Parts: sequence; C-alpha cells; structure tokens
Amino acid sequence: MRTLSAGELIAATHNSGKVKELKALFEPLGFKVVSAIDLDLPEPEETEKTFVGNAILKAKAAAEATGKPALSDDSGLAVTALDGAPGIYSARWAGEPRDFGLAMEKVRAELDAKGTTDYSARFICVLAICWPDGHSEAFEGEIAGHLEFPPRGDRGFGYDPIFVATGETITFGEMDPDRKHAMSHRADAFKKLTAWLEAVAN
Ligand code: IMP
Repeated sequence: MRTLSAGELIAATHNSGKVKELKALFEPLGFKVVSAIDLDLPEPEETEKTFVGNAILKAKAAAEATGKPALSDDSGLAVTALDGAPGIYSARWAGEPRDFGLAMEKVRAELDAKGTTDYSARFICVLAICWPDGHSEAFEGEIAGHLEFPPRGDRGFGYDPIFVATGETITFGEMDPDRKHAMSHRADAFKKLTAWLEAVAN
C-alpha cells in the first residue's frame, strides 16, 4: 500500500492560479510545494481524452523528471447544454497566448447559437499523485452551478468570472479566495485525497 509522507511535493502545473490554490491546500498538511514553473520543467502535451488520463500524464512526467512524488491537477468547466464542453479543452479554448476573456465569449456564443436557456455547468477537478516508479492515484471532485454573463470579478482565474456555484449569488471571480477554496471542485477532490491519505496512514 502506498503512503505519502510530508516533504517536497512537485506541483506538476504551469498555471500560476492552480499553483496558488494547490499550495493553499497542501502546505497546511506539511508539504513543501515546488512547482513545475519554479523548476522550469517542460510542459507535456495533454494527449488523453479524460481528466483522469491527463492528470496522470502530467504527474507522471513531473515525477519522472524530478525523481520525487508529483501532484497534478486536470480540471475544467463542463457546460450541460454544450454536452460537457469545453471540458478537457478548457485551457485550449483560451487560445495561445491564453485569453480567458475570449474563452468566456466563446462559451457565451456557443450557448447563444444553441438558443438554450440552460446555463447550468460544473467545474471538475482531478488531482493525481504519481510516484517516481510510475504508480499513480487519482481523485475526482466537482462543484455544480450556473453561468452568468457578462463576466464579473478579478479575484480568481480562468472561467471564475462567469461561474456562480449553486446557492451563491456572486461569481467565483468575485468571491473571497478562501471561500472559493473551501467549496471548489479542487477542494472536493482534495477531501477525497486526504481521506485516502488518512486511510493509508492507519
Ligand atoms: P488544464 O487542467 O491545465 O487543462 O486547464 C484547466 C483549465 O480549466 C484552466 O486553464 C481554467 O481555464 C479552467 N479551470 C480549472 N479550474 C478552474 C477554476 O477553479 N476556476 C476557473 N477556471 C478553472
């Protein structure tokens, strides 16, 4: 059975918004989170067709490159009326260089083209841990809500300015980051990961 002892953990992401949120989650547990940005690691191409597949691919690349356990996050926005799009392509909808204003406009244009009134959506997050020998564990979390336009707030990243979680009136972009971190898809995946950590420790 695998365990993960507190120590250095490589955050296998080049997204500074994610690094910030992963640090906020893992550092209180005693991990020292060092990111792929800090280490100037190459960014692997996301060739898988699922969040789990891409999360494992990214964690594996960072664990192999560093010889240390690596943590990755593959996440995205799944819009019900768009059959789950942009989904695993959430970052790619923002083009290169990333422009999430453009990506949010694209979501709105696609919803308009459908002529739908269903603006329900979910954020999905898979956290994967991969060890240098190739073993991996993955944990999936989500948060349900709906989209509102135009985008509001500049406190988060990505699609936060158009996402309103169920029961809330403000977007994730307007929300206090601590509050977002406590309820997000990432927090949900993190709860499953910590439950696993506790189970293997006992
Ligand atoms: P990837 O996991 O690197 O493929 O990128 C996921 C993309 O999904 C990010 O670039 C964001 O656009 C979006 N995303 C994931 N999590 C969040 C979040 O918490 N808020 C806003 N957008 C997110």
